Amino acid sequence: MLRKLGWLVSYSLVVLLLGCLLFLRKEAKPMGDPTARQPFWAPSAPCHSRCPPNHTVASASLSLPSRHRLFLTYRHCRNFSILLEPSGCSKDTFLLLAIKSQPGHVEWRAAIRSTWGRARGQQLKLIFLLGVAGPTPPAQLLAYESREFDDILQWDFTEDFFNLTLKELHLQRWVAAACPQARFMLKGDDDVFVHVPNVLEFLDGWDPAQDLLVGDVIRQALPNRNTKVKYFIPPSMYRASHYPPYAGGGGYVMSRATVQRLQAAMEEAELFPIDDVFVGMCLKRLGLSPTHHAGFKTFGIRRPLDPLDPCLYRGLLLVHRLSPLEMWTMWALVTDEGLKCAAAPIP
Ligand SMILES: *[C@@H]1O[C@H](CO)[C@@H](O)[C@H](O)[C@H]1NC(C)=O
Ligand SMILES: *[C@@H]1O[C@H](CO)[C@@H](O)[C@H](O)[C@H]1NC(C)=O
Ligand SMILES: *[C@@H]1O[C@H](CO)[C@@H](O)[C@H](O)[C@H]1NC(C)=O
Repeated sequence: MLRKLGWLVSYSLVVLLLGCLLFLRKEAKPMGDPTARQPFWAPSAPCHSRCPPNHTVASASLSLPSRHRLFLTYRHCRNFSILLEPSGCSKDTFLLLAIKSQPGHVEWRAAIRSTWGRARGQQLKLIFLLGVAGPTPPAQLLAYESREFDDILQWDFTEDFFNLTLKELHLQRWVAAACPQARFMLKGDDDVFVHVPNVLEFLDGWDPAQDLLVGDVIRQALPNRNTKVKYFIPPSMYRASHYPPYAGGGGYVMSRATVQRLQAAMEEAELFPIDDVFVGMCLKRLGLSPTHHAGFKTFGIRRPLDPLDPCLYRGLLLVHRLSPLEMWTMWALVTDEGLKCAAAPIP
C-alpha cells in the first residue's frame, strides 16, 4: 500500500515537471542563440536591436579599463526597443515616481510597492526602469510582475552602471510619449526611502510650468582619475577640472517644464557614462542650475545621528541606501501613529 502511494506521488511529480517544462518551452521564443549556457527554463535571448560597434573607437581606447572601452565602442547606440511597458499616466497624474531598478532586484520592488510606493492614487504613478541582465530572474517573472503590477518599463539594453545614461535618455522618451502630463517626476534608485507625503507637501507650492530640479546638489565635484574606482573618468573622456553642479542620482525631483527641456538637451548631447553628472551637463547647456534641499539624503544619514531613527525620517524627503528589510521597518515606524518624536518632557 505504502509503496503504491510512493509510486503515485513520484508519478504525479514527474507529470507536473513535464507539464511545467512544456508550458515554459511554449512561452519561450524560438529565436536566439542556443549555445548560451542558460537554465532550461530561461527563454532564449530576445532579438537585440542591431547596432554595430565602432571599431575605430575600440582600437583607440585600448589603454582604458574594459568597461570604459565597451562604453565608448557602443556610445553611438542610443535607440533600443521597449520589452515591457506599463500603461501611460492619467490626465491628472501629479507625481511620477520613476525608480531605477534591475531585473534581479525583485525584493526591493516588492518592498517599495508595499511601503512608500503604495500610496498610488490617481495622482501618483510608480514605475521601475530596467535593462536586460542575463537569464536570472527568468523573463517569466518580469512578465508576471508587469502583468500583475503594471509598473515595469524594460528596454533591450544591457543592465550596467555605465548604461544608466541610456536609461535616463529612454525614460525621457517614454515620458514624452506616455506621461507628458505628469506635473512632477521623482527619479531615484530602488534602495531609497521616499517620504511621499513630505515630497507632495514640498511640491504643493511649485508651478510645474516653471523650471525646477531639486535634490542633494553636488558642486565642484572633481572627476575621479583613479583607474581602480568605479567612477574613474580619464581626461580623454572629460577634460575640464570640475563637473557642473548636479543632483546626486539617488533621488531628485523635476518639474514638467524641466523634464521637457531636459529631453531635448539629452537628445543632442553625447552620452556620458555617469548618469547624474550627465543630467548636470544637460542642465548646464540649458542654463539651469539644480536647487539644493537638505531633505534629500542621497548619501544616507551620517553619524552621530541614528541612520534608522524614524523621527529623523519624518522631516526628510528621501533617504538613500536601505535594504528591503529596513524599508519595511522604517515604513512601519514612520506610519506608527503612536510614535512620540518630541523630546521627552522633563518630569
Ligand atoms: C567611430 O568613431 C569615430 C570617432 O568618434 C568617428 O569619427 C566615426 O565616424 C565613427 N564611426 C562610425 C561608423 O560610427
Ligand atoms: C536613432 O533614432 C533617431 C530617430 O529615429 C535617428 O535619427 C538616429 O540616427 C538613430 N541613431 C542610431 C545610432 O541608430
Ligand atoms: C550597454 O548596452 C549595450 C546594448 O545592450 C551594450 O552593447 C553595451 O556593451 C552596454 N554598455 C556597457 C558599458 O556595458
